[in-house]
Amino acid sequence: MNDTVLVTGGAGYIGSHTTLALLEANYDVVVLDNLSNSSAESLRRVAQICGRKPEFVQGDIRDTTLLNDLFSRRTFTAVLHFAGLKAVGESVRKPMDYYDNNVVGSMCLCQAMARAEVFWLAFSSSATVYGEPTRMPICEDYPTNMPTNPYGRSKLMVERMLSDLCASDARWSIALLRYFNPIGAHSSGMIGEDPNGIPNNLLPYISQVAIGKIEQLPVYGGDYPTIDGTGVRDYIHVQDLADGHLKALHGIRSRSGVHIWNLGTGIGYSVLQMIHAFEQASGRPVPYQLVPRRAGDIAECWADPGKAARELGWQARRGLQEMMQDTWRWQSANPQGYAH
Ligand code: NAD
Ligand code: WQD
Repeated sequence: MNDTVLVTGGAGYIGSHTTLALLEANYDVVVLDNLSNSSAESLRRVAQICGRKPEFVQGDIRDTTLLNDLFSRRTFTAVLHFAGLKAVGESVRKPMDYYDNNVVGSMCLCQAMARAEVFWLAFSSSATVYGEPTRMPICEDYPTNMPTNPYGRSKLMVERMLSDLCASDARWSIALLRYFNPIGAHSSGMIGEDPNGIPNNLLPYISQVAIGKIEQLPVYGGDYPTIDGTGVRDYIHVQDLADGHLKALHGIRSRSGVHIWNLGTGIGYSVLQMIHAFEQASGRPVPYQLVPRRAGDIAECWADPGKAARELGWQARRGLQEMMQDTWRWQSANPQGYAH
């Protein structure tokens, strides 16, 4: 019998790519998602790509009754926990929504797991927990006391809660996966990132400018102390990230306690480098305008991914060109995302 993994938030951007990778690796998958920021169409496409379907449960991770029913109906080997809210600006306007979905939601999930005696968990954390680091590249043991916004603080709270849980009971084995900047789409062009309204993140913004949905890209700040004055980030292909989750699943099986792994490439690119690479991959111009810095942004941020390489045998394999080509394949084939 195959191992069954519960994937919370599995209809979303990273969750759908990871669900696909799990199904392709012969896991059975149950997705729990309230569809607050996604569409079940992503899972239909996953099934089209790999010929296997995840079970889909529409519901909320804060719904204790639903969780108890689910954990008593199915036997899970592990939980991959993607569900949560992720928009930095919105988190400043609606902090309680973020603490409720991200912190209370994770607490409800862990309580249900403990009742069902499922102790293997991988949590979607973020490089945002490092706040404004003074040295690059960022290692896992860098201080995490200063995230710059409520979203980041909610992620850090969950990290600390999960560490306390591991310290209290040796049966837990938990991976805190700190993603850098996930971009790209599955190479089929059938699943990808489908943000609501005007995108917050760079790549979906660039691709909507390239297809003509938005007139031009605001480039937030041209006066950072970086290669060309624009912000530098560690962009990682979402399929590499999905593979990192499979490796982390193996990693937590053979360890107990809490383990932190950066999931990044170790390479930083500036906003202008990203624009030019996208123009090359798409053959479309991406008009942009330099505007003042965005509040809360840092100049540069890239990972030291060595710990995941040493301990999990994982490293990102896909380069910038592939990330751009895959983003463009998804965007041009699905100009309205999953909406039709
Ligand atoms: P996403 O919004 O596409 O996916 C999150 C999914 O969770 C969505 O399908 C949404 O409907 C669902 N969801 C939200 N609240 C829920 C709840 N209370 N109950 C059930 N389902 C709920 O986002 P994503 O980009 O795929 O991110 C996945 C995870 O990775 C998030 O936890 C996010 O904070 C984290 N992360 C994302 C990035 C990024 O840049 N995309 C970077 C670092 C960390
Ligand atoms: C990248 C670069 C911007 C949009 C955020 C969250 C982080 C994580 C990933 C979840 C920066 C510049 C952007 C635009 C621009 N998410 N930019 N014009 O800010 O590194 O990280 O997403 O965990 O927590 O903070 O990503 O894609 O928003 O920005 O010039 O319209 O692009 O200033 O230099 P960021 P991003």
